[in-house]
Amino acid sequence: MEGGSRHGKATKMASGLRKGLTSYGDAGFSLFLRKAFIKAMGFSDDALDRPIVGITDTYSDFNPCHGNVPDLIAAAKRGVMLAGGLPMAFPTISVHESFSHPTSMFLRNLMALDTEEMIRAQPMDSVLLIGGCDKTLPAQIMGAASTEIPAIVLPTGPMLVGHHKGEVLGACTDCRRLWAKHRAGEIDAAEIEEISGRLAPTKGTCMVMGTASTVACMVEAIGLALPGAATAPATHADRVRLAELSGRAAVRLARDGTKPREILTQAAFRNAFTVLQAIGGSTNALIHFTAIAGRLGIDVDLESFDLLGREVPVLVDLKPSGQHYMEHFHWAGGVPALLAELAPLLDLTARTVAGDTLADVIARAERVPGQGVIRTRAAPIHVGGGLAVLRGSLAPRGALLKRSAATQALLQHEGRAVVFDNTADMAARIDDDSLDVMAEDVLVLRNAGPVGAPGMPEAGYLPIPRKLARTGVKDMVRLSDARMSGTAFGTIVLHATPEAAVGGPLALVQTGDRIRLDAEGRRIDLLVEDGVLAARRAAWRPPERPAGAARGYLKLFLDQVLQADEGCDFAFCKPPRG
Ligand code: FES
Repeated sequence: MEGGSRHGKATKMASGLRKGLTSYGDAGFSLFLRKAFIKAMGFSDDALDRPIVGITDTYSDFNPCHGNVPDLIAAAKRGVMLAGGLPMAFPTISVHESFSHPTSMFLRNLMALDTEEMIRAQPMDSVLLIGGCDKTLPAQIMGAASTEIPAIVLPTGPMLVGHHKGEVLGACTDCRRLWAKHRAGEIDAAEIEEISGRLAPTKGTCMVMGTASTVACMVEAIGLALPGAATAPATHADRVRLAELSGRAAVRLARDGTKPREILTQAAFRNAFTVLQAIGGSTNALIHFTAIAGRLGIDVDLESFDLLGREVPVLVDLKPSGQHYMEHFHWAGGVPALLAELAPLLDLTARTVAGDTLADVIARAERVPGQGVIRTRAAPIHVGGGLAVLRGSLAPRGALLKRSAATQALLQHEGRAVVFDNTADMAARIDDDSLDVMAEDVLVLRNAGPVGAPGMPEAGYLPIPRKLARTGVKDMVRLSDARMSGTAFGTIVLHATPEAAVGGPLALVQTGDRIRLDAEGRRIDLLVEDGVLAARRAAWRPPERPAGAARGYLKLFLDQVLQADEGCDFAFCKPPRG
């Protein structure tokens, strides 16, 4: 088996425990010492001679989305052993959305580095990546794709739905909807407290088509996970069985040596982006899969992605674009049934980690009579796909709009800008009754991009100013260089690139300027004369770096992070060109 070369050279490598020996200048001694130590755990020579499957352990008391990881690891180990391999679980960092300061995106690249280096450093013939919360699977795949070690993915799976006063609830689209009602005075403090115990009723990832579900569906479509892996609920027996099967598949990968780059081809990425459009998925997934592709030297062309959005209809009826939840998608046939419906738009020769092709997955897809979650292409939820790429004077390198979660009447809109200089400025002023704002205005938030915040927080879902919310305003055009949770909804233009903090055009907007959104024409423009903008640019100074930016990971992040159109990866993590 080949692999492990940091410099991309094809070096003949040992397998199993003989792989990647610690350097003492005497390989025999290194192996002897390694065996001596690992035998302290009670392993036999027979066990230590087997192909080794590394299993990432991302369990953390701070990460309820990964609360089922111990059960999944136990089942995966069973699968590895049934197939004749030796499972070795190892820890990496774990990142949960609500327990990551300043934002989980700030830590995604750190998790990718951790995962990559632990895969390289420890002897394994394949790796099973178990993750789920938004940034974790992208980070794990970025890391694994940078190695030559065969990899398979097992998402932790979605939570089951919650219930409140006869209504079905899900994290976190309904978190936002009900919190907006609380802000508007429709839900009192006692009830919102009660609701907080009902929105996330089980372990697992958010059960709407947020970022975690979107990434999981794309991971299945790109061929890195087994059929059903995206949708089987986190707490069901099906999920545990999938773990066992994934363990078995990991042994097969260890034996045949299929590398991530052999699965993650250009065609496979196109398949994944087709699914992203068809599920009305999260805007964040474009950034994550751009970063994964970048690790393999594959460029994601935003124009081609937008064209896909015009061709591919939204077929999956899940919140926030539709009405159902992930468990309903699962029982409707899940990703394989969706792929069957999308078959004419896909490259069915793309390979999967199960050793077959997408055509084989579709051939085995369950057809569920009478299901109403996966629509046909003849009767879609939205005719155009979920996501549109905008260009224009406010976003020369692109911005993103989730059309399927927007208010149709606002997709062609011109309004006066109301500018917030950063997230602190927004928090301080947005609910001030003296704020000069009207429903027709365009809310602008800047300095919330990869460098500006730092870490591009999910602040792009600017709240409706309280004084407008009280009058029943539910949506406004909003524009920022931030990201947005995949569970959010509204007419929201995100990822304006380049961001304000590095001198992007958003830095020059002033309250009172006119902004025009033309979703059909894919434009977002500032209607200010060039001469005026030139004078503003001459006066512009970059914002000060945050405290603590002189050292450590924050310095590394600020020095190295790329813009959204390059996946916000670190510049030094991309492979050298040529
Ligand atoms: Fe982990 Fe939503 S908070 S998936």
